[in-house]
Amino acid sequence: MGEAVESHLHVLSACKIFIMMTFLVVSAAVFLCPLAICSPCITSNLPPKPALIGHRGAPMLAPENTLMSFRKSLECGVVAFETDVQLSKDKKPFLMHDCGKNFLLRTTDVKDKFPGRDGSNNFTLQELKTLNAGKWFSRSDPFWTLSSLSEEERREADNQTVPSLSELLVLVKKYNVSLIFDLKNENNSTVFQSSDSFYTTETINKLGISPDKIWWLPPEYRHDVMKMEPGFKQVYNKQKEMLMDGGNFMNMNFSSLSAREISELRKSNVSVNLWVVNERWLFSLLWCSGVSSVTTNACHLFKDMSKPDWHLEPNMYKGIWIATDIVSLLLMIGLFLWQRRRLTGDWSTGIY
Ligand SMILES: *[C@@H]1O[C@H](CO)[C@@H](O)[C@H](O)[C@H]1NC(C)=O
Ligand SMILES: *[C@@H]1O[C@H](CO)[C@@H](O)[C@H](O)[C@H]1NC(C)=O
Ligand SMILES: *[C@@H]1O[C@H](CO)[C@@H](O)[C@H](O)[C@H]1NC(C)=O
Ligand SMILES: *[C@@H]1O[C@H](CO)[C@@H](O)[C@H](O)[C@H]1NC(C)=O
Repeated sequence: MGEAVESHLHVLSACKIFIMMTFLVVSAAVFLCPLAICSPCITSNLPPKPALIGHRGAPMLAPENTLMSFRKSLECGVVAFETDVQLSKDKKPFLMHDCGKNFLLRTTDVKDKFPGRDGSNNFTLQELKTLNAGKWFSRSDPFWTLSSLSEEERREADNQTVPSLSELLVLVKKYNVSLIFDLKNENNSTVFQSSDSFYTTETINKLGISPDKIWWLPPEYRHDVMKMEPGFKQVYNKQKEMLMDGGNFMNMNFSSLSAREISELRKSNVSVNLWVVNERWLFSLLWCSGVSSVTTNACHLFKDMSKPDWHLEPNMYKGIWIATDIVSLLLMIGLFLWQRRRLTGDWSTGIY
């Protein structure tokens, strides 16, 4: 009988030691891991705030790709407009995102104005200018932001047309901002005629825009465009292509670069623009990582931020965690001692 109790106690104390060790290892890991976390926002040398680029203008505050939308984005202090350019039947560049079989359907009243005309890009600029490009916005309220618009703004939104590229370039010139755009056509959003680049470049040059204000993005006929207008800033979405051309400007999806890659590009003086960034936390993180600019639907959310939503000096961060660790450690020791005293009586009787 006595032996049985003794071996029972042996197993029990081995078990206790095991639990104790596991507990200590886990606690140590939990206590120490924050010291190993590195967030770009734990830094003593916060990069400057990224510049803002209005994605189709300010599409939460006005119908996308309309002059009202671009004017609204100017109120956020954007450094550049982002848009989409297509060529009309008479080879005039105009602004429209959707192409192919959805051409004009989502954002204009083409079905009412031109019943029976199919969606193909078979419209002269003059025909396109008769379309309403704003009523869809108040009808569908795509960002649930309509209630933030005044009566007057709603009336203005309802009255928007499809802008020609020239109309936008007038704003570019007047407000000294830059312009970055995708060039599209009806068959395939990425394949278009070299003549489309030609007509677009010609339109830009005719208006006397300073060429460094044009951030040329379409890769397809880049080298032709560079010959035609060497002053454009060439913007790349593939790093390899940029290196081959000796360029220094990347434009990528926000999720395709890590904080480290961003910081390496910035160290080699490459401008990094990321799209489409619509949340404050993401904007904050990219700010800490040092991106040069972001393309955004929500410039109004970022325009007044004077610092990232959270940013800590590394010493402050360490201090907070060490203090927290010490307090938890004291608490644990206290609990342990209290529990031990409470159980001491039970130990001697061997009753569990
Ligand atoms: C283009 O539009 C004209 C009317 O302006 C029409 O007669 C013609 O059939 C259309 N072409 C195509 C390919 O849709
Ligand atoms: C805008 O309003 C004017 C008159 O105020 C009107 O003539 C014009 O057709 C409207 N444009 C659109 C696209 O609704
Ligand atoms: C236009 O902006 C550029 C910076 O992109 C600046 O250097 C230049 O002085 C500005 N020009 C005017 C007229 O404000
Ligand atoms: C980046 O630009 C800065 C200032 O213009 C210059 O001092 C530095 O040497 C450049 N770095 C590289 C890697 O070119």
